[in-house]
Amino acid sequence: MKAYEKLLLENKAWAAEKVNDDPAYFSRLANLQVPEFLWIGCSDSRVPSNEITGTQPGEIFVHRNVANLVINTDVNLLSVLDYAVNHLKVKHVIVCGHYGCGGIKAAITNHDFKAVLNMWLRNIKDVYRIHRAELDAITDADKKTDRLVELNVKEQVFNLAKTSIIQRAWKQEQRPHLHGWVYGLKDGIINPVFEMNAGTHIDTIYEYDDL
Ligand code: CO
Repeated sequence: MKAYEKLLLENKAWAAEKVNDDPAYFSRLANLQVPEFLWIGCSDSRVPSNEITGTQPGEIFVHRNVANLVINTDVNLLSVLDYAVNHLKVKHVIVCGHYGCGGIKAAITNHDFKAVLNMWLRNIKDVYRIHRAELDAITDADKKTDRLVELNVKEQVFNLAKTSIIQRAWKQEQRPHLHGWVYGLKDGIINPVFEMNAGTHIDTIYEYDDL
């Protein structure tokens, strides 16, 4: 059997088990999606949002990319954010990074990862530059990576708050609350490192006054 064929086989078994446990499972989900959460996570295969939070299909709207970045020219991310905030009306947006993130590690090096990855990782290097004094003082490579993982998550929450999508929702509906979390690959525990309630003021240069 080819590796991918096992996935299709497992899928049939999973679907059968779900229907066996709850005959209305799929018909209910097919008709309704009202997730309370938008999850912006790393693409890393070891950080599956539903498994680690004990949630079911239908509960979390998900966007994932390398090192969970919120970039203001990323049409993919912004479309997901717009849909989640303005149509699904999510109450919480969670940016979840993870300790030992390969994208963060790569960004700390001076290695040339070639055009596209260099372009993506540049955004993480910018986070490093902002916090250079603190990060340069950490000599242990793993600790440095993990601290940048935390700082990166915080910076991405700020990036969310800078968007007119979030600011408009804050003004009109006092939601969503923003959260910066970091998941531990070694113990499976999520560390909530940063929180920004709806309506929080940020550097005024980013605040729209005519929304
Ligand atoms: Co990662």
